[in-house]
Amino acid sequence: MRTRFAFTALAGALALAATASQAQTQAPLKVGFMLPATGTFAALGDMIEKGFKLHVEEQGGKLGGRTLQYFKVDDESDPSKATDNVNKLIKRDQVDVIVGTVHSGVALAMARAAKDSKTLLIVPNAGADAITGPQCAPNIFRSSFSNWQPGYATGVIAAQKGYKRAMTITWNYAAGAETVKGFTEAFEKGGGKVTKDLNLPFPNVEFQALLTEIAAQKPDVVFAFFAGGGAVKFVKDYDAAGLRRTIPLMGSGFLTDGTLEAQGASAQGLITALHYGDNIETPRNNAFRNKFAVTYKANPDVYAMQGYDAAQMLAAGLKAVNGDDKKRDALIAAMKKAQIDSPRGKFTLSAQHNPTQDFYVREVKGNYNVVTGVAVKALADPGRGCKM
Ligand code: BEZ
Repeated sequence: MRTRFAFTALAGALALAATASQAQTQAPLKVGFMLPATGTFAALGDMIEKGFKLHVEEQGGKLGGRTLQYFKVDDESDPSKATDNVNKLIKRDQVDVIVGTVHSGVALAMARAAKDSKTLLIVPNAGADAITGPQCAPNIFRSSFSNWQPGYATGVIAAQKGYKRAMTITWNYAAGAETVKGFTEAFEKGGGKVTKDLNLPFPNVEFQALLTEIAAQKPDVVFAFFAGGGAVKFVKDYDAAGLRRTIPLMGSGFLTDGTLEAQGASAQGLITALHYGDNIETPRNNAFRNKFAVTYKANPDVYAMQGYDAAQMLAAGLKAVNGDDKKRDALIAAMKKAQIDSPRGKFTLSAQHNPTQDFYVREVKGNYNVVTGVAVKALADPGRGCKM
């Protein structure tokens, strides 16, 4: 009996040693970042990459025992170049996993290429609803949100505030249209009415004529989706046009995330909804923010958090297969069922691989988006049209 026990223990120890040494002898896992390094979303891409690398560094430079080798493409937030750009990673660099991107239009082309080539794709921002809807696939995951989610959450709080007539304003592309759709759904369910949708081409920032129209129509509230450099300009122009004090401005939280230093006084008091806020007082968020600040000499934002969680999701998959990404079914199964201990709060993935997560009410105070409540708890994207 004792001999059999000793033999089993020895066999177990040998198996463990074998998998550990296997992870060590494997070639590095090739990770391709397809993110914007130029244009209105450049800062967002930078934050995502920093967040991703921070988690890898916390794991001693390895995920699931596997070292990583990075490849990079600047997608310029340009959908017309997206297929060529993603193929640089898939065909030229032959990466094992792609992390990207910010812009919904670019991400839709990436998702098509990832689905066709079966390359593992983790989307660390772009909310295009179709990615976890009709274009869903076993190898496509998202660490961020669907566009419907933050739009819907903001609609809930705008209706709760008692506003009845809203105008919306955004860029004319998937993220703008889908976020406005989510807002309208919740706002009208809550008793309000969207009286007019205004838009301009991405990434234009000539807002003057549209602001004049808002001033003339005098709605109870304006809902805006802009992000990055465009959000900075919009919030400043809204204030300079004298509208901030007369017509409340609300938005999905991208309007004020990663932008507050540049927006200054013009953003003070703005109320938004998002799946992250700067002052979530948990040991997990505090540790993340401190580590990020020490490493990069900057405060993290929602984009850094989403990049960090993209690495956590990949880590969950790789750990389950001891770094062997060729065990694809087991890796995907582990990613699907992972509970991610995120700085935003713990979350799980929907059947379509999109985070089911709390959406917070935030108010701008100084350089922070301060959480003042929860708009919707555990909000799941409906995942309409996904067949997996
Ligand atoms: C998007 O294109 O999906 C997007 C871009 C910036 C912030 C949020 C969403």
